Amino acid sequence: PKDVGILALEVYFPAQYVDQTDLEKYNNVAAGKYTVGLGQNQMGFCSVQEDINSLCLTVVQQLMERTQIPWDSVGRLEVGTETIIDKSKAVKTVLMELFQDSGNTDIEGIDTTNACYGGTASLFNAANWMESSSWDGRYAMVVCGDIAVYANGSARPTGGAGAVAMLVGPEAPLALERGLRGTHMENVYDFYKPDLASEYPVVDGKLSIECYFRALDRCYSFYRQKIQKQWKQAGIDRPFNLEDFQFLIFHTPFCKLVQKSLARLMFNDFLSASSDIQSSHYKGLEAFRGLKLEDTYNNRDVDAAFQKASLDMFNKKTKASLYLSTHNGNMYTSSLYGCLASLLSLYSAQDLAGSRIGAFSYGSGLAASLFSLRASKDASPGSPLEKLVSSVSDLPNRLASRKRVSAEEFTEVMNQREQFCHKVNFSPPGDTNSLFPGTWYLEQVDELYRRKYARR
Ligand code: ACO
Repeated sequence: PKDVGILALEVYFPAQYVDQTDLEKYNNVAAGKYTVGLGQNQMGFCSVQEDINSLCLTVVQQLMERTQIPWDSVGRLEVGTETIIDKSKAVKTVLMELFQDSGNTDIEGIDTTNACYGGTASLFNAANWMESSSWDGRYAMVVCGDIAVYANGSARPTGGAGAVAMLVGPEAPLALERGLRGTHMENVYDFYKPDLASEYPVVDGKLSIECYFRALDRCYSFYRQKIQKQWKQAGIDRPFNLEDFQFLIFHTPFCKLVQKSLARLMFNDFLSASSDIQSSHYKGLEAFRGLKLEDTYNNRDVDAAFQKASLDMFNKKTKASLYLSTHNGNMYTSSLYGCLASLLSLYSAQDLAGSRIGAFSYGSGLAASLFSLRASKDASPGSPLEKLVSSVSDLPNRLASRKRVSAEEFTEVMNQREQFCHKVNFSPPGDTNSLFPGTWYLEQVDELYRRKYARR
């Protein structure tokens, strides 16, 4: 099959949020710390009525309803998540419930976990399946979702919640570019969830940012090597640089980190450029010549100078992709794909046609890849790209229709989640009318931990 990639995409986020200015006051930190310092305006969160299964049920059902494809046309379903509520049973097998009436049980795929990387691993698996001898001609579906919650403290404002489902198939309006994946994996303890009795991670925030930057540098270097090799075989002999990406999206723990990351990629371009180019294209940055990437993870001068130098590029290529993250926070495995949805919702099919979108996925622990998607050239009305773009155009309106909840109430819900995590024999408290129509929710957990869901 040709041009395997994303045919359709659906985003789900909770119907309630806490405003970051309210959290700043509630947590007694300086005004601007979360909104300016982290670049976060609002954070979505789930009550006890929602868990990872309900999030994924909702987003898959919505994708099926929107695309109207038959339930038996899906041959593979992959879930990427790090929100673990069962050490054995996959979210994927819960999703089989949706396919029951169709009689389609011939669906490969289970869950994949490594922090925020599981969604990307699932997407790669789905594409690999389609390009392999195991493919039976049907669609693949990739689902990623998480409930990102932190213990009280400096990491709490970087939470969020949501899910994304993607339909994967050939001749896609957003095709995965073949052979163009730069990957870096390494054993580190920057963020992990060793306490199975708690929803909260153990996190070394500063180390996680350093690891994110190191992974970004390494992935970009491998990506460039691979594309330059492809180019060479096609007779093109020049270095790859950021100008060759029309858009760049990143896993987004908080928006400020993404702006710093684009700056860092420009710093990578700068360091690998010839001294002539360094002087002509990077005016005023000569002082940073000769620095080594690995010595600069915490270099504030490099950070400030390259953020300034890359500001236009950030506004043009990346800023729009942060729309959902700014208003909903970190969705972990679905963060990168929420960025993709934001980009599609704020640009037109014409703006996107023919473009190369660079995508950086990072999961602590760590697993990271930089890969690229190619938008099809045809953006005419009714084209697959135009349909994909218009299917997510309601994102800003849907976000605006959520309910703002006070920091006190948000904290109360976090406490409730702690109480009910791993409880048996209960029905979650709360009003199901506060959910968006069509949302699946947890109705009951029985004495054998079996979970029952219903749809609003
Ligand atoms: N006005 C404007 N900016 C401010 C203000 C203010 N009043 N106060 C602080 N800031 C700025 C700081 O200068 C800093 O920005 P800078 O780094 O550009 O200088 C920023 O706000 C954050 O302030 P810090 O003091 O560094 O924040 P803190 O130590 O409280 O924690 C952190 C931030 C580490 C991100 C924390 O929220 C965390 O641990 N989050 C979870 C881990 C995470 O997301 N890691 C990323 C990769 S891994 C993953 O995806 C989970």
